[in-house]
Amino acid sequence: MDYAATTPLDPQVFEAMKPYFTRIYGNAESVNTFGLEARGAVEESRKKLAGAMNAEFSEVIFTGNATEANNMVVKGHAFREGMGRTHIAISTIEHSCVLKATKWLEEKGYKVTYLPVDSLGDLDLERLEEALRSGVTIVSVIHGSNEIGTVQHIDKIGRLCREHGALFHTDAAQTFGKIPVDVKSMNIDLLTVNAHKLYGPKGIGALYIRRGVDLDPLLHGGEHEFGLRAGTHNVPGIVGFAKAIELRAAEMVEEAERLSRLRDRLIKGILEIEDTRLNGHPVKRLPNNVNICFKYVEGESLVLHLDTEGIAASSGSACSARSEEASHVLRAIGVDPVDAKGSLRLSLGKYNTGEDVDYVLEALPRIVKQLRHISPLSPGGVRAN
Ligand SMILES: Cc1ncc(COP(=O)(O)O)c(C=O)c1O
Repeated sequence: MDYAATTPLDPQVFEAMKPYFTRIYGNAESVNTFGLEARGAVEESRKKLAGAMNAEFSEVIFTGNATEANNMVVKGHAFREGMGRTHIAISTIEHSCVLKATKWLEEKGYKVTYLPVDSLGDLDLERLEEALRSGVTIVSVIHGSNEIGTVQHIDKIGRLCREHGALFHTDAAQTFGKIPVDVKSMNIDLLTVNAHKLYGPKGIGALYIRRGVDLDPLLHGGEHEFGLRAGTHNVPGIVGFAKAIELRAAEMVEEAERLSRLRDRLIKGILEIEDTRLNGHPVKRLPNNVNICFKYVEGESLVLHLDTEGIAASSGSACSARSEEASHVLRAIGVDPVDAKGSLRLSLGKYNTGEDVDYVLEALPRIVKQLRHISPLSPGGVRAN
């Protein structure tokens, strides 16, 4: 129940990748036969990926992961425009890689505005318009939140940005292959995706850059990826990414419906435990995301206890699991910092069944009760005084 952190490699994806580790191992930049074969696979994969997001072939570049793509957006824009002309606006619920890259730029002197969300995690469109009127040059808003699951009105946000002449970037690492992503109808200028959230390999991501949008590269060297990202191509990873999105696109609608049903059953069952609340939007929500605050319980303890019963879960996002601080996303939606420490994220995936949901709904109330019994925070706990 931690598919938002990562997913297992689909066996069909592994099969598609295998020849590119052994037989077709050429450098995609070489002009010999080995290289040309590898190059063909890279370009075929680029075509598939572009097709899955309704982009053109030349608008997609491969990166090492979504973290790199997100860094490239904010830093590549800032470096291109220069300090005087850059004004970045990001939502307060961005993934840490967007947030930290932007904060780093702010420390260097770049102008940054943080856009608030409401208590369900929806971006405040009035504040966005205000920021746009004040001369923002690029806006970054996560498509589906990796923590609380809220899905934004991306098309509306994109339209507002376009009307005001600002670039619009969205991080779709949690949505690509799960719900529709269409760069044209959603007015997206820059889009981040990766493979390991959709049963593809780790260590491969991609960035859509609409034709006419200029970013500076972060990595300099060879002329790979239209001169935007130097470094020998990860050909097996690229092939695996394309195969993974092809498989996900074919089953997306039914799988989203199946997961939403399991998700809703989990949410309903968990909310029967007293002193709990759902974080994120009740409807406009990723099909696989459940995020609940349990009063008087530490999320970390919950995760560890669930783990001993064979249930993999997470408190907050996997990337900040070792952080002592309460999640910036939960704080952004107004959750009290103490309550935020009692949050649990369950994220469903391809291999979860109704029996898994039953199992969690049997184990979780029992574990919560035990933990509350010994909690110094709990009014009824033995250590309450
Ligand atoms: C929304 C979001 N953005 C970015 C990332 C980073 O992805 P990657 O592991 O490919 O760098 C993740 C995953 O952790 C994510 O959920």
